[in-house]
Amino acid sequence: MENRQWLLRRRPVRMLRDGDLELAPGDQHERALQAGEIRVRNLLFLYAPTMRNWMSARDASLHMIIPLGAPIQAMSASRIVESRHPAFPVGSRIVSTSKWSEFDIIDAASAPRLIDEGVTAIEALGAFGLNAMTGYFGLMRVGRPSPGETLVVSGAAGSTGSVAAQIGRIAGCRVIGIAGGAEKCSWLRNECRIEEVIDYRSDDVSSALKSLCPTGIDIFFDNVGGTMLQAAVDNMAKFGRIILCGQIAGYNSEDDDLPAFRNIMRVIYGSIRIQGFLFGDYRDEVPEAIADLIAWRQSGEIVTREDIRTGFETLPLHFNALFEGTNRGTLLGLVDEDAYSSS
Ligand SMILES: NC(=O)c1ccc[n+]([C@@H]2O[C@H](COP(=O)([O-])OP(=O)(O)OC[C@H]3O[C@@H](n4cnc5c(N)ncnc54)[C@H](OP(=O)(O)O)[C@@H]3O)[C@@H](O)[C@H]2O)c1
Repeated sequence: MENRQWLLRRRPVRMLRDGDLELAPGDQHERALQAGEIRVRNLLFLYAPTMRNWMSARDASLHMIIPLGAPIQAMSASRIVESRHPAFPVGSRIVSTSKWSEFDIIDAASAPRLIDEGVTAIEALGAFGLNAMTGYFGLMRVGRPSPGETLVVSGAAGSTGSVAAQIGRIAGCRVIGIAGGAEKCSWLRNECRIEEVIDYRSDDVSSALKSLCPTGIDIFFDNVGGTMLQAAVDNMAKFGRIILCGQIAGYNSEDDDLPAFRNIMRVIYGSIRIQGFLFGDYRDEVPEAIADLIAWRQSGEIVTREDIRTGFETLPLHFNALFEGTNRGTLLGLVDEDAYSSS
């Protein structure tokens, strides 16, 4: 069984560049499994912006740092080819965190999740995947929307943001999405049925928010940080909530962090709650989230789109799309056509 993997050779400076990663023979794939381990063939990888943080050497006591020379890690969908755990039979499929390798060994203790019959690997990482559930938990559990409230979402045409925005519409909010470029804005308006859209590449976000939210923003779902966060802070309503989901504008930065926002007194006078969160905080509620996402997708309340790039050898080439904004929906790296199978 041949195996290949992508290793971190050099810490990226800003965008990922040729030579930062190296394609190498895979290790471990021929060793015998220990009890509780499963061997998988990877079918599909989710490109997650936070993988860029894992490649940096910045202080990160709360998240993983990939050592130089070690394999890139990613959320993956895989087919089990050998198993020493009764709950994960050969032939079934899982979502887990895996190496960027063709084959890998997964410890069942790391809580891989079986993919249900009838669901493709693409759906398991896309429409019902980690990003969709992040939009769900962030808005519903952290933001706690009420009908009639004004919700603003940054990165609104992305994998996570588009689900948060549409769930906001379902919850009865007046939703304003911020995204880059005419195509994304029209997709949000026409397909996702988001009431108001701000194109941050051509509009001034702060003044657009001021005129669109005369009574202030009740909930801000932030995927971007930096100037977007500042514009929202400047326009929050009393008792508003700021949901910190991501800070993608800072992941390629050489500084430790994006500058924090100005005007903290506004947060105090506004009795505003700012809360970061991780998808994993709500792991126990995954079945409920997936059931809701499936129902909303079937009824047409939520639309999603996937941007599938093909080829194991070319995996690194597509990573920067997340930062250039050229992805159209959930960015996925397909390495095996089996990812289209629903059983
Ligand atoms: N807290 C959690 O557990 C969790 C889980 C998953 C994801 N996240 C976060 O959610 C965010 C979105 O991730 P995703 O995987 O769904 O990616 P995505 O939104 O599908 O793709 C990334 C998008 O971010 C926008 N972007 C990139 N750089 C930007 C910049 N400097 N300023 C403004 N917009 C920028 C681009 O859209 P435009 O074309 O509109 O600029 C790009 O298409 C990320 O911050 C990620 O870290 C958090």
